[in-house]
Amino acid sequence: MSERLVVTLDGPAGVGKTTLAKRLAEALGVAYLDTGAMFRAVAWKLGEGAWDWPEDRLSKVLSAMRFSLVGQGGDSRIALDGEPVGEEIRSETVARWASNVARLPVVRQALKQAQQDIGRGTSLVVEGRDMGTVVFLDAPCKFFLDATPEVRAERRMLQLRQSGQPADFDEILGQIKARDDQDRNRAVAPLKPAADAVIVDTSSLDVEGVFQKILAHIRGA
Ligand code: DC
Repeated sequence: MSERLVVTLDGPAGVGKTTLAKRLAEALGVAYLDTGAMFRAVAWKLGEGAWDWPEDRLSKVLSAMRFSLVGQGGDSRIALDGEPVGEEIRSETVARWASNVARLPVVRQALKQAQQDIGRGTSLVVEGRDMGTVVFLDAPCKFFLDATPEVRAERRMLQLRQSGQPADFDEILGQIKARDDQDRNRAVAPLKPAADAVIVDTSSLDVEGVFQKILAHIRGA
C-alpha cells in the first residue's frame, strides 16, 4: 500500500474491537495498535492508587516511559520500555485501574503523543475510545462499534467460561456498566463517536458480518 492508511475503531469495552482490528490489520497488511493496552500498561506499571498522585509526579514518570510497537500486522503488540506487554495487563483489576488513570489529562496527553508518534508515517488499524475524535482526527476511515451492555456482558461471560474461568452474568454486567459510565462521562476525551465515523451496531451481527461490512467501507472509501 503506497499511501498511509489509518483506520480508527472506537467503542465501549467488550464490543469486539480487538478481534476485528486484528483481522482488519491482517487483511489490509498494516500494523495493529491497541491503545487500551497502553492505558493498561501505565496502570499496571504505576500500580493501585497512582491516579491520586500529584500531577508533577505522574508527569515525570510518564515522560520516562517509552512505548513502541513490536511484531507485524495483526500480531503487532505494544512494548513498554522495550518489553512487550502480555497477559499481566488483562485482569479485571488492571482494567479498573486503567479506567481510573484514563480520566487524567496528564496521562491522556502523554499517551496521545506516544500514539501519534507510533502512527507517524505508518499505516495502521488502531482501536480505542478517542482515536477518531482526538488522536487521529484526520484518519480517512473511522468506525464506532456499539452493542448493548447486556450483549457485551453475555459475550464476555462466554469467553471467560470457554477459557475455563468462572463467570457470573450480573457481576460482569455491573462491571461493564460501571466502566462505560466512567469512559463516557469523563471530562477529557469521553467515549463518543466522531462526527465523521460510521456507526456499526454489532448487537445482532456476528464477527464475520461486522468484518465484511467494515472492510467494504474501507475499500470503498
Ligand atoms: O479497551 P480496554 O478495555 O483495553 O481499555 C482499558 C481502559 O482504557 C478503558 O477503561 C478505557 C481506557 N481507554 C481510553 O480511555 N482511551 C483509549 N484510547 C483506550 C482505552
